[in-house]
Amino acid sequence: MTTIAPTAFEANTFTINGSVLSWSQLEPPFSVSSFPHPYSVSIIEAIADYQQIIATADFVIIDQNIAHIYGIGERRAGTTFLVIPSEENKTLDTVSAIIDQMIDLEISKGSKVVAIGGGIVQDLSACACALFRRGQPFTYMPTTTLGQLDSCVGAKCAVNTAKAKNILGLFSAPSEVFIPIFLIKTMPLLDHRAGLAEMLRLCLTASISAVQIYSNLLPSIAQPSTLDLSAYAEAVSVSLSIKKSVVDFDEYERDVRRSMNYGHTFGHAIEKLSNYQVPHGLGVLLGMHIANVYSTAIGVMAPSCLAELTIIFQKTALEIRLPFFQASDLVPEKIISQFRYDKKGDGASVPLILIERPGMMIFRQYLFSQSHEVLSQSIRLGIDEFSAWINQP
Ligand SMILES: NC(=O)c1ccc[n+]([C@@H]2O[C@H](COP(=O)([O-])OP(=O)(O)OC[C@H]3O[C@@H](n4cnc5c(N)ncnc54)[C@H](O)[C@@H]3O)[C@@H](O)[C@H]2O)c1
Repeated sequence: MTTIAPTAFEANTFTINGSVLSWSQLEPPFSVSSFPHPYSVSIIEAIADYQQIIATADFVIIDQNIAHIYGIGERRAGTTFLVIPSEENKTLDTVSAIIDQMIDLEISKGSKVVAIGGGIVQDLSACACALFRRGQPFTYMPTTTLGQLDSCVGAKCAVNTAKAKNILGLFSAPSEVFIPIFLIKTMPLLDHRAGLAEMLRLCLTASISAVQIYSNLLPSIAQPSTLDLSAYAEAVSVSLSIKKSVVDFDEYERDVRRSMNYGHTFGHAIEKLSNYQVPHGLGVLLGMHIANVYSTAIGVMAPSCLAELTIIFQKTALEIRLPFFQASDLVPEKIISQFRYDKKGDGASVPLILIERPGMMIFRQYLFSQSHEVLSQSIRLGIDEFSAWINQP
């Protein structure tokens, strides 16, 4: 990925729907602006440091699959909450159970509460801590690729009801984020690539140079078990530096933070229509590709840019097995019908987040009443290409 030429916009300045932002690659630790308090983001490279944070915590909320990996030490009975990491369990009932345990432990503002896991633990813990006595400080240690490269910055959290995913949400920032990068080596390939897709999304938001960094790092970080930890640490710093620049500008998603939904309108519809068999990050990867195909069809993106980006998308999807994935099951008209349930819609339209090229993003309202012909064709083409990239049985 070297031939998309930088333009008048220099590499570290990017434009989101007319607003100009800038990013520079920051080495953690760095601080993220947030209301009511900023929070620090650091990388932990030593297992002993990770274990020390666990050992000194008054209360630990941890993914039950992570608890055994480096152990949680000799914790006092009743001071650990093991989370079953499933969407069915990401509910107010679990939030309530976490809060009840904090009451039993007489947790106070001065207590040290630590949440350890991926997005599910983050969502449950941040909701519980926001509600408990109107704000319990907590430390977050993300353990998934998505958590480390994306969601640990941004302060969002949400839980599900029986009818809708992530419908009960609020902003709840941790006091500090510590990223134990060595934990990524045990990530399942599918979840890992889904996390890398979110990094690719952030790089596409930011600039050609960020996409080049992603592309250069990819061979060293594509396989979790053998990944090069220093290359992965660089990926974390690039990805979170970009996320920070957007969140610092618009934490509460009044405008430019909506750009983080690039690929999501299509991705969510595909996730739903596949009964959530297509995992979120891969839905977003496919969704971004469809958005790019559509951008090209309506003259927003140059065909040469689409061709170059497609090579990188393909590399991210490669070696993934989705035996259940049938391109023919995903009908474009059904995907467009799902737009009506998109959280960002207004009943008559939905915002489509498109890129002209890396670092130049625009928002376009897509009317439910307009002709769907071009979009349908783009969706079909995008899905068929994606289907050819992933390893079919
Ligand atoms: N709050 C936010 O800003 C935000 C952003 C994006 C997504 N989310 C939410 O996050 C959830 C998805 O989170 P996720 O993708 O981080 O994964 P997750 O928390 O759902 O975990 C995925 C799987 O990976 C396992 N796992 C976690 N860390 C591991 C490790 N180091 N080694 C091996 N296995 C490990 C878990 O046990 C689980 O089986 C969704 O519910 C989504 O809605 C939240």
